[in-house]
Amino acid sequence: MKITDEIFDRLFSAASAVRENACAAYSGFKVGAAIITEHGKIFSGCNVESSSYGLTMCAERNALASALCSGERKFSAILITADSPEPVSPCGACRQLIYDYAPDIIVIMTNTEGKRIDSSVTELLKFPFGLKKVKI
Ligand code: THU
Repeated sequence: MKITDEIFDRLFSAASAVRENACAAYSGFKVGAAIITEHGKIFSGCNVESSSYGLTMCAERNALASALCSGERKFSAILITADSPEPVSPCGACRQLIYDYAPDIIVIMTNTEGKRIDSSVTELLKFPFGLKKVKI
């Protein structure tokens, strides 16, 4: 799927809207994410923090999990947004999970002003670990 301006706008507004629901009481850093399936359906997620900090769930992992829980398996793009000077970049754990379920997805990193960087997952996660690559 080509990421047209229209698709970008739909993803950006879904991610910006869900970002308002972020549970970021500890960091104060609200993140929103939206993922689009090959058929154009959008799922969104925000970060959900825990008093036990390490249990925190990132926005992009929640968006991906929401889509997976609805039975979706084929994805075209995932957009992440936060109020930061530069576009927000997915953490290592999210890069792995995105690679696991959507190795060919386009990752669109943005800030709330709409500054944007597009990347492949393998550009973000060079030499990824994956079950297809090991003998278990
Ligand atoms: N966070 C995300 O939700 N996604 C990212 O790509 C980077 C970090 C969240 C986790 C935590 O709630 C807050 O941002 C600060 O790290």
